[in-house]
Amino acid sequence: MSQLTILTGTTRGLGAVMATQLAHNGDHLVTLSRVASDALAATAKTHGTTLTQINVDLGDTKALEQAAAQLKPLLAKHTSVRFIHNAGVVTPIAQSQDLTDIAVINQAFQVNITSAIYLTAVVLAGATQASDLRVMLISSGAGRNPSSGWGVYCATKAAMDRYAEVAQMDQGKRARIVSMAPGMIDTPMQEKIRATSKNDLPSLDRFLDAHSQQKLATPEGTATRLLKVLASEAFGGKTIDDVREHNV
Ligand SMILES: NC(=O)c1ccc[n+]([C@@H]2O[C@H](COP(=O)([O-])OP(=O)(O)OC[C@H]3O[C@@H](n4cnc5c(N)ncnc54)[C@H](OP(=O)(O)O)[C@@H]3O)[C@@H](O)[C@H]2O)c1
Repeated sequence: MSQLTILTGTTRGLGAVMATQLAHNGDHLVTLSRVASDALAATAKTHGTTLTQINVDLGDTKALEQAAAQLKPLLAKHTSVRFIHNAGVVTPIAQSQDLTDIAVINQAFQVNITSAIYLTAVVLAGATQASDLRVMLISSGAGRNPSSGWGVYCATKAAMDRYAEVAQMDQGKRARIVSMAPGMIDTPMQEKIRATSKNDLPSLDRFLDAHSQQKLATPEGTATRLLKVLASEAFGGKTIDDVREHNV
């Protein structure tokens, strides 16, 4: 049986590029995104990749459960299963006394970490035939180092790191689970960060400088590296990992 890869957040940025790259490999790709892509469907068709695009708002619990129901029959068919949780939101960006919008805070937690925990469970439970089971949660340096104004984003990504450690402990040798920092990438998320006020994000200049000095990695380069590391024997060697530390 061919390999099944499930990827969240494929409308833009890093996820869109990973989806396009995976659509070239002739296996089975499932995307979980708010909008389906005709271009991705065309690429998959050209390269003999089976593509299932599931439309889901990861912030919507009911929609998430319906998406899981669609995943279950696919999961049981494959001996090699990979899950990449890439979808993420960087907002709200605000000083801690201003983090008063509960709905916005909940949305960030649901997209960044709750849906990652839930979908990982769906994959682990559903991949009953898998002898090769890998989960790559796209984390961030923000989970490892505090940044003023990023109370919510840092908290969700720190939670991802600790969750990955616990899940790996639970699964033992059955699955490889990694919380992977990708480094700074030139995506719409970085544009959103640069558009923030310095009052909300005192380290704004670091992001403006990284962009103006062309220090941001391209989404294409980072996607290639992430997928190479995911496919490599080294994957899972470190549960809290950073793609920049891999020589691929
Ligand atoms: N860019 C960086 O420098 C950087 C650095 C470290 C870590 N990361 C992490 O890398 C990952 C990808 O980031 P990126 O820079 O590519 O971000 P991005 O350009 O903002 O794209 C985020 C993706 O997540 C999806 N998403 C957000 N909310 C969603 C929801 N409720 N339901 C379904 N999909 C949703 C978006 O889809 P919609 O179009 O539907 O909103 C989009 O496809 C994130 O987890 C981010 O935290 C990025």
